Amino acid sequence: ILSDYDISPKSGFLPEEKPISKLSDEYYKPWESLVNNLPSLILTKRIRALVDKLPVLSVKRIEHQKCELRRAYSVLCFLAHAYVWNVDQPTDQLPRSISEPLLKVSSILEVPPVATYAGLVLWNFKEIMPFEQIDSEDWDLDNLSTTHTFTGSIDESWFYLVSVYFEYKGADCITDGLEVLKFIRQNNVSSVIKNLQKLAEAIDKLGSVMMRMEEMCDPHAFYYRIRPYLAGWKNMEDAGLPNGLKYGDEEFYRSYAGGSNAQSSLIQTLDILLGVEHFPTGFRGKDSNKSISAESGENNFMNEMKSYMPGPHQRFLSHLSQVANIRQYVLDQKHPELTLSYDACLAMLKAFRDKHIQIVTRYIILQARLYKKAGSSNTLRSGLSKSAGKDEQKGTGGTSLIPFLKQCRDETGDPAAGKW
Ligand code: HEM
Ligand code: ALA
Repeated sequence: ILSDYDISPKSGFLPEEKPISKLSDEYYKPWESLVNNLPSLILTKRIRALVDKLPVLSVKRIEHQKCELRRAYSVLCFLAHAYVWNVDQPTDQLPRSISEPLLKVSSILEVPPVATYAGLVLWNFKEIMPFEQIDSEDWDLDNLSTTHTFTGSIDESWFYLVSVYFEYKGADCITDGLEVLKFIRQNNVSSVIKNLQKLAEAIDKLGSVMMRMEEMCDPHAFYYRIRPYLAGWKNMEDAGLPNGLKYGDEEFYRSYAGGSNAQSSLIQTLDILLGVEHFPTGFRGKDSNKSISAESGENNFMNEMKSYMPGPHQRFLSHLSQVANIRQYVLDQKHPELTLSYDACLAMLKAFRDKHIQIVTRYIILQARLYKKAGSSNTLRSGLSKSAGKDEQKGTGGTSLIPFLKQCRDETGDPAAGKW
């Protein structure tokens, strides 16, 4: 059943068949030659002028080929974000040469027409050496590479690859979680416990994968060079796009959040499996109907991010929400060892979110402080870095960062022990 949702027991939400790194039809050469030279064209600030000269190509030739469509989507997303954010003043108008094919491929793939986690991570990696040739069944971080980056830097590649590897490692979480549900249906408590223990270990590994970010992704490079290109056009007033972006000849503005790991289906799978619920920032949960600082536009960000995932993955999550009953089962059984194994999973997921907050502090909050101290002498002033010195930081997804992330973490913390 997993394959119905484009999920692999081996590679999870990553396509098992690795993404292609070139559109096979020569017709798309004008896209290919721009995207293959993207870092240089960005560095020399020529990308906008060159995109303006692109012909409007049709996607008819690839509309039934999934791999080609994914590649086209990824390419068009890189070109679109480079076009919008490359020079000092972002533009609020995307030319038809990008907007038309982008709208078309996005609608077929059921993703929004903006650089999502799918375009930047899930469909943007390749192996360095064929895994067969290096005698490895398992994909390893040191044999993965990205197809495209904005900056051409190792830091940016690494930033995406850590997530690729995280999704790969996460495949175990999906299979362990589904096993748990199966054994619950059979009311086989000892097997439920065993698989919950396995799940807790698998979640723990995810935290270790995330902490590898620091090996190769420098916080300064991330903050000043990479991050500005990941921003979208929603909640981006400070970065210069108050209304969003006009796509081609459309007369209205569209606003979409930028790329964010909040769009990873894996984390939301874990939340659903374990019965973790998220509420709009500022709300403390069901019991409290009082808003502490209900922010407009941030009405349950985690839920909104589901619509930024590929269609089949969205459907998997909604199906899973209908059948996931682990928390209820644990509460009903009142079995100490079972409770312990479930609470271990929650504790691991919470620890993951704690580690993530450390990363965000190092890569965003501290960098912003340094920026302020230096009297904003940095010359790169496009996009998000414009608001770099402000007290209130925004994530590329448009959230108010730390309050949002802390709430996500705190919502992960309700153990079943003591509830029965
Ligand atoms: C959300 C920053 C790496 C997983 C977020 C958000 C920010 C952020 C600011 C809030 C949403 C937004 O507005 O974008 C960062 C930074 C990273 C990083 C600076 C590294 C330099 C990662 C990695 C993972 C990850 C490697 C997992 C592999 C998540 C998840 C969320 C999130 C799951 C949603 C909130 C939650 O579930 O707690 N991240 N992130 N992040 N990030 Fe990251
Ligand atoms: N969501 C991450 C950020 O805000 C990438 O920087």
